[in-house]
Amino acid sequence: MKEKELIKAALAARGNAYSRYSGFKVGAALLTKDGKIYSGCNVENGVFSASVCAERTAFYVAIAAGEREFQAIAIAADETDYCYPCGICRQVMAEFCGEDFLIYAVKNEADYKVLTLGELLPKAFHFTVKR
Ligand code: THU
Repeated sequence: MKEKELIKAALAARGNAYSRYSGFKVGAALLTKDGKIYSGCNVENGVFSASVCAERTAFYVAIAAGEREFQAIAIAADETDYCYPCGICRQVMAEFCGEDFLIYAVKNEADYKVLTLGELLPKAFHFTVKR
């Protein structure tokens, strides 16, 4: 797995964060099962509810490019703390990924934690229509 490359991509994507309201910059890098990396950053808006997290940006860019299968995501924000995905992003991950999907919470290239989606969102909701 391209762990180091994924972490570097998340740190680089953080540089593009548009966070003029919170000042909190976040970068994310999403790894497909066949080894491609899609990056995203948070993009804020003066209408705060229109803002989007780095993780969802990375997912939506990848989905729009036709990707459907993912193995891991790296998230880099404030270097003094690990940044774990918010509840909405966890739900978006659960739409496309299983419980073994890996989440790298990155402080820097040498300091990061690895968790699974199953740990961060146990018993996720999945929409099923019963007729
Ligand atoms: N944010 C992310 O991009 N990812 C996270 O995991 C947590 C929060 C963004 C949203 C908003 O632009 C800023 O950080 C403060 O919440």
